[in-house]
Amino acid sequence: MDTTTERTPIRPFEITEIRRDFPILFREMNGKPMVFLDSAASSQKPRVVMDALVHYYEHLNANVHRGVYKLSQEATDAHERGREVTRDFINAASTKEVLFTRGTTEGINLVAQCYGRQFIKAGDEILISGMEHHSNIVPWQMLAEQTGAVLKVIPVTERGELDMEAFDKLLTERTRFVSIVHISNTLGTINPVKEIIDKAHALDVPVLVDGAQSAQHLAIDVQALDADFFVFSGHKVFGPTGIGILYGKEKWLEAMPPYQGGGEMIKTVTFEKTTYNELPFKYEAGTPDISGSVALGVALEYMQEIDHDAIQAHEQDLLQYATEGLSQIEGIRFVGEAARKASVISFLLEGAHPYDVGTLLDKLGIAVRTGHHCTQPLMDHYGIPGTVRASFALYNNREDVDRLVAGVERAARMLR
Ligand code: ALA
Repeated sequence: MDTTTERTPIRPFEITEIRRDFPILFREMNGKPMVFLDSAASSQKPRVVMDALVHYYEHLNANVHRGVYKLSQEATDAHERGREVTRDFINAASTKEVLFTRGTTEGINLVAQCYGRQFIKAGDEILISGMEHHSNIVPWQMLAEQTGAVLKVIPVTERGELDMEAFDKLLTERTRFVSIVHISNTLGTINPVKEIIDKAHALDVPVLVDGAQSAQHLAIDVQALDADFFVFSGHKVFGPTGIGILYGKEKWLEAMPPYQGGGEMIKTVTFEKTTYNELPFKYEAGTPDISGSVALGVALEYMQEIDHDAIQAHEQDLLQYATEGLSQIEGIRFVGEAARKASVISFLLEGAHPYDVGTLLDKLGIAVRTGHHCTQPLMDHYGIPGTVRASFALYNNREDVDRLVAGVERAARMLR
């Protein structure tokens, strides 16, 4: 089976060209040209990703790893090619370590249940942080309820950074697992995950990195990070919904029991005993999301084609330009002012409910997310019900920022 991938030469970052790749950016919303500022929730898709989905169903559709017939083999090649592209994207050592999931949430649940069943006992401590998404809290709480393990939480500072002195004290010989978000979906904070991993490894504690936001913004190298597990979702990296990735070090994936039982994940089955398939299939029960893996591969190749440093510089420019513009508005309060931030801005307007601000912006054609962003404990920490969040991706431009700032100014005048 040919699963090799070749890196296409770097494409220079040219915002007008990039925007043309995303047809949805040119639609109208409420009678106005749409400004999409909710890519932290889900990114838009370039034309090549949509074409890949259609091409798959038009030319390749068949179940994988099953048929002797040519079409099934072609579908299998395309599916496994998606895995190889992903391996390359995160620089995993082997495709054995790259599992397809439904998304970040399923990846974390898989690790909590499978690692937990094998290695976590009553009294063991699991360390997360105060800025985790619910999907990196609840699976660990469920495991704690099942096993009697204890959940410990690294506090967040007023600026929205992890309190690393507290981390140093919370990481002890009782800690058995650390699960930490790379970039906060609410605050935009880029966490020092390498430092966390190195310190945890000094005590032989494995670390899961929640890369739901970082896979869109940062160059990911799981080997350089030395992450034990790294999870992300296809739909936030310009791919389709319904597919995600769990990277796991081979030693853990070999040592852990499987997640779900069914076809594909078995080697032999009798009524007395089942033996399990080799990696990565041991964790992939049932027919996978084949069109998803194919299109995810195309999305990741799309990202790899573009000069990554230029993307980061562009997003940082938007972050700075938007922060400066918004900070001129009377009564604005930023939530999350970390020194290292991705292009995510959460804010409140004095005297206005975030929902009302979001609704007004929507009337102006500007899509932002409002609410607790699935981080209720973080909202409790700040004593607020939620925020308005604008998140910028590679396809946003300074005009989008100008429209946002003008819209928030108008909301501030109307709602004060
Ligand atoms: N976790 C996604 C967000 O932050 C859905 O919006």
